[in-house]
Amino acid sequence: MGFQFAVLNGSNLNWLGKRERAIYGLESWGAIWNRLQKWAPSQDANLTYFQSNSEGTLIDTLQEIDSKVDGVVFNPGAYAHTSIALRDCVASLRVPVVEVHLSKLSKREKFRQFSFIADVAQITIVGFGADGYLLGLTWLKYFYDRSEQR
Ligand code: DQA
Repeated sequence: MGFQFAVLNGSNLNWLGKRERAIYGLESWGAIWNRLQKWAPSQDANLTYFQSNSEGTLIDTLQEIDSKVDGVVFNPGAYAHTSIALRDCVASLRVPVVEVHLSKLSKREKFRQFSFIADVAQITIVGFGADGYLLGLTWLKYFYDRSEQR
């Protein structure tokens, strides 16, 4: 049957490859998504992708997929630094959530140093660029393999 993992991107991440390329890289989301899709079959995983620039839609999506997937890799974009509503949502989910940020937040502006999501996510992956998504998915797989071995 395999694992069902969702990748969810928040605000402005539909513009990867054309927004602030020195910070977020040259690769478009389409190219990143292709790489993730290539990884999935070898790990017995099925991936679905969602993106929204709206806080409410991100909450609606998380609530809806909670009962349908085995894990979520979530880059909230700037909402990580502002949204208590998204934090409350992530805290209420059944599935493990991996928070991902492409850029190394600790080297950036002060207002990016705090994430409302970080302590309600299982783990946070920061500063690996687009590879952070792959690392997040790999961690979810590891999370299930590890609990099976116990
Ligand atoms: C980001 C970091 C956020 O601070 C920023 O607002 C983004 C992208 C990242 O992936 O590095 O939109 O989440």
